[in-house]
Amino acid sequence: MANGLLEGKTGIIFGALDDKSIAWKVAEQAVAQGAKIVLTNAPVALRFGGIQKLGEKLNAEVIPADATNMEDLENLIDKSMEILGGPMDFMLHSIGMSLNVRKKRTYTDVNYDWMHKTFDISAMSFHRLMQLAMQKDAMKEWGSILALTYIAAQRVFPDYSEMAESKALLESFARSFGYHWAKKKNVRVNTVSQSPTPTTAGSGVKGFQTFLDYADKMSPLGNASAEDCANYCVAMFSDLTRMVTMQNLYHDGGFSYTGMNPEVLGMEE
Ligand SMILES: NC(=O)c1ccc[n+]([C@@H]2O[C@H](COP(=O)([O-])OP(=O)(O)OC[C@H]3O[C@@H](n4cnc5c(N)ncnc54)[C@H](O)[C@@H]3O)[C@@H](O)[C@H]2O)c1
Repeated sequence: MANGLLEGKTGIIFGALDDKSIAWKVAEQAVAQGAKIVLTNAPVALRFGGIQKLGEKLNAEVIPADATNMEDLENLIDKSMEILGGPMDFMLHSIGMSLNVRKKRTYTDVNYDWMHKTFDISAMSFHRLMQLAMQKDAMKEWGSILALTYIAAQRVFPDYSEMAESKALLESFARSFGYHWAKKKNVRVNTVSQSPTPTTAGSGVKGFQTFLDYADKMSPLGNASAEDCANYCVAMFSDLTRMVTMQNLYHDGGFSYTGMNPEVLGMEE
């Protein structure tokens, strides 16, 4: 359903690792809707090669950048403005990684150096990106900046571990920086709180498949897919959502407001 919603718009998409990644689907959908984009990911992620193939398919340059490294981010923004012809209309932050989860340290026995790095990768990178983009005047008037988040920022999901605090910080950065971006250039900043989705990052959470099934049953509409999420992100980049800012937007098939769904207990009506 391509209807040119992003015709003439440009942007940077962070975090496409493979064809399961949410950012991968957003990139495909954004280009299908008429946008011209630059793709970026950590140098180590580029070695897997998937993103290069996506770049060829979408006619998009791929620029490596570790989201915790200011020089990399500066280079990314400078080069993207050269390639895309100046300030941009949208940016997607689709980055998350927990060192303690990856190294199987439990929440009550974390390594604090790793926790620090987790916050840097998963949340502070969003502030870095927005600060640099503002200093370099890299966004157009009425642009849109988005980051992906998860409801563990508000409710306890024990196996999500330190990513819960990462997401709480990320959402807070969206609100606080969203104020400054709105005042400065009418740019909106929001987070999209997505259903559990079978991706590399998602599958790192213990018992992920069981949890995915639970969330699917609990949500009246079922889990939102990565493709659904891409459509929502495109809507948020389009001119149809210009007055939405500083929000955490649930994109979860109704999970966040459902107290109980009999299906979970096998008691279908
Ligand atoms: N999968 C889910 O269940 C789910 C649910 C809600 C929100 N999210 C969020 O969606 C976003 C995208 O994750 P995904 O599920 O598509 O998984 P993914 O593994 O495909 O994407 C995560 C990306 O983060 C990138 N990354 C990690 N460290 C980086 C660094 N230092 N610099 C730059 N990039 C780095 C990875 O290379 C990867 O591309 C994340 O913020 C994640 O927390 C995921």
